[in-house]
Amino acid sequence: MTAISYAERIPNNVNLSEDRRLQRALEHWQPRFIDWWKEMGPVESLAHDVYLRTAVSVEPGGWAHFDYVRMPEYRWGIFLEPAEPGRLIHFGANKGQPAWQEVPGEYRGTLRRIIVTQGDTEPASVEQQRHLGRTCPSLYDLRNLFQVNVEEGRHLWAMVYLLHAHFGRDGREEAEALLVRRSGDRDNPRILGAFNEATPDWLSFYMFTFFTDRDGKFQLCALSESGFDPLARTCRFMLTEEAHHMFVGENGIRRTIQRTCEVMREHRTDDPEEVRRHGVIDLPTIQRYLNFHFSVTVDLFGADVSSNAATFYTAGLKGRYQEGRIGDDHALLGAEYPVLELVDGKLVTRMAPAVNALNERLRDDFIKDTDLGMARWNKVVRSHGIDFAFRTPHKAFNRKIGTFAQVKVDPSGRPLSDAEWAAREREFLPSDEDRAYVQSLMGRVVEPGKFAGWIAPPSKGIEGLPVEFEYVRFN
Ligand SMILES: [Fe+2]
Ligand SMILES: [Fe+2]
Repeated sequence: MTAISYAERIPNNVNLSEDRRLQRALEHWQPRFIDWWKEMGPVESLAHDVYLRTAVSVEPGGWAHFDYVRMPEYRWGIFLEPAEPGRLIHFGANKGQPAWQEVPGEYRGTLRRIIVTQGDTEPASVEQQRHLGRTCPSLYDLRNLFQVNVEEGRHLWAMVYLLHAHFGRDGREEAEALLVRRSGDRDNPRILGAFNEATPDWLSFYMFTFFTDRDGKFQLCALSESGFDPLARTCRFMLTEEAHHMFVGENGIRRTIQRTCEVMREHRTDDPEEVRRHGVIDLPTIQRYLNFHFSVTVDLFGADVSSNAATFYTAGLKGRYQEGRIGDDHALLGAEYPVLELVDGKLVTRMAPAVNALNERLRDDFIKDTDLGMARWNKVVRSHGIDFAFRTPHKAFNRKIGTFAQVKVDPSGRPLSDAEWAAREREFLPSDEDRAYVQSLMGRVVEPGKFAGWIAPPSKGIEGLPVEFEYVRFN
């Protein structure tokens, strides 16, 4: 088992103490990170004791240790999956060559951009979620929020390590800038659109962790195939943490749906107005939230046809989802992939060179994954005998990036005129009134074992502990 050294100021499994220059650079960055956490991390939380999991080893299974921690004292650190001896680059033009341990000169700028773009999302989501503690539906949920937040903080550490260890002065400057940009800031926003949206309520938080953290999963999976070995190993370990974030989202939405269904059954109604009068979130509003978060998240995958994506792949920097399990030449010579194109106002499928359509392919893989969650939520609805089904919106719906940015379609993919869109937008996306209603339900519940009225309790607690365990102690 590869243990992580906690004896050092920065816990790590990369022998930091043997690289004094790097150690000094990171020790210089660390207090700035803590300042950022205090300024932009979860509000009013610095003194809470939170029952958190901390990584203590990088082996699968058995890496997690649970205990009460004050978040500013969380053992953020640098953990890479163990190296695979003799690992080769397994796709693109450099396929078959030894994986790079140092940044290849010709790809330096590209790799730095990939790492900075990924790194920027990590502190962004902490900033987006910082006010949610004030309206938590339970201690259990509050603890899960904080767990997600500290792990996003650690993901930032992971990317900053790569910048400091492999990109010299440019890397150090980029690492500083990661602490300076602010989610939603007009003058100095975070890099990607979805990470500048507000996360004003807990339904949005669960949608974010279900959809947007899942984008994270797919990006990390593609980067964990990278020929740049330190990046691949870093991302593989981050994926173990990402799984928990998606769990929080999927279960949070499932519990919200369950509570709504219970109330609908109890009062024998499917009228959204009446459902709201009983203090739960009506199913059509949940669908509109889902439409919104799905559409801003699929934009994160980038343009459907992209020469950047082709460059990343051909260079061996970013692979496909589960590259190693795909049975083809891993170079995409002459291969094609279907994309949608707008012809006379209609969406038609055409074949594009597969190497240019890698964003689209990753987006499609992501959509398949979200459909599984959708099916599990629909099972909850059906089990209550309610005639309603959640649907994944069409991937052209409400897009701002790529071909679809030029067309308006309804969630089923039917093209709409601007006038039709304007008349019907309220059916598709959360209105100000929907958001105000959801916001009105957000009261703070912090008595152990108690839950807000709009959400069902989970079926079990954390790590075998009871649901009513005191997951957060306030000081
Ligand atoms: Fe992350
Ligand atoms: Fe995450």
